[in-house]
Amino acid sequence: MKNISTDELNEQFKDLSLDESLKQLSDIFDGQKIVFSSSLGLEDQVITDAIFKHKLPIQVFTLDTQRLFKETEALITDTEQKYQQTIVRYTPNETAVQDYIKTDGLNGFYESIEQRKKCCYIRKIEPLNRALKGANIWITGIRQEQSQFRKNMPLFEYDNERDLIKFNPLLAWTTEQLWETIRANEIPFNPLHQKGYPSIGCEPCTRAIKPGEDERAGRWWWENQDKTKQECGLHVPLKAAKKA
Ligand code: ADX
Ligand code: SF4
Repeated sequence: MKNISTDELNEQFKDLSLDESLKQLSDIFDGQKIVFSSSLGLEDQVITDAIFKHKLPIQVFTLDTQRLFKETEALITDTEQKYQQTIVRYTPNETAVQDYIKTDGLNGFYESIEQRKKCCYIRKIEPLNRALKGANIWITGIRQEQSQFRKNMPLFEYDNERDLIKFNPLLAWTTEQLWETIRANEIPFNPLHQKGYPSIGCEPCTRAIKPGEDERAGRWWWENQDKTKQECGLHVPLKAAKKA
């Protein structure tokens, strides 16, 4: 891994555009494994457009939980066709899924937070761990506006557990900026965004939100916990560490 601290990276990248930052990242970490996790959300489509358009050496992957909306599945194919590049799909371990269905039921996640986290582990976290194996840099579409917990995230942070640097290039972007970029560049997007779904995850765990509701209010809506702090476990708080 390159001997550059996350503090230095945060300073160096703080005023760069998305295109500039992805290009610089590719230069600085030339020859290292850089991956981008896409859920096909608005943020992710903006980042994918920049990566694919400039043919950057960054792998785009998605966690295909096999419980996605049909609109999201169609968007994966449409995006690949538009750019003539591949979005690598990571699917859950078949045996683990079958065991879950046997013990908890297909939709056992509605019963308790533990059962929901178990399903998220099988369908998202374990495949994510596989996708991040050997990666040096992990790019995400996280934005500060999305939740209270995300408000305090930095552009670059070191993930001790995975021994990689996490980069959130759209951290400070607003929803308006995303839409402007999507429209100006004719980037394909999920039609559900225009039907009340600002944040889209698995089909059985996402509902449309009502005017005035928090952006993530439609995620795991039946759970009685603070929505602004709710996470599925993909993005857990990282321990502070300076050197990568
Ligand atoms: S989640 O943790 O609540 O599911 P959210 O939907 O806000 O995450 O997305 C935040 C970022 O997490 C996305 O920009 C993307 O980088 C990553 N992510 C979320 N879901 C997936 C997925 N199914 N596949 C790949 N990356 C994902
Ligand atoms: Fe399972 Fe719902 Fe988590 Fe998707 S969001 S992995 S269906 S609990």
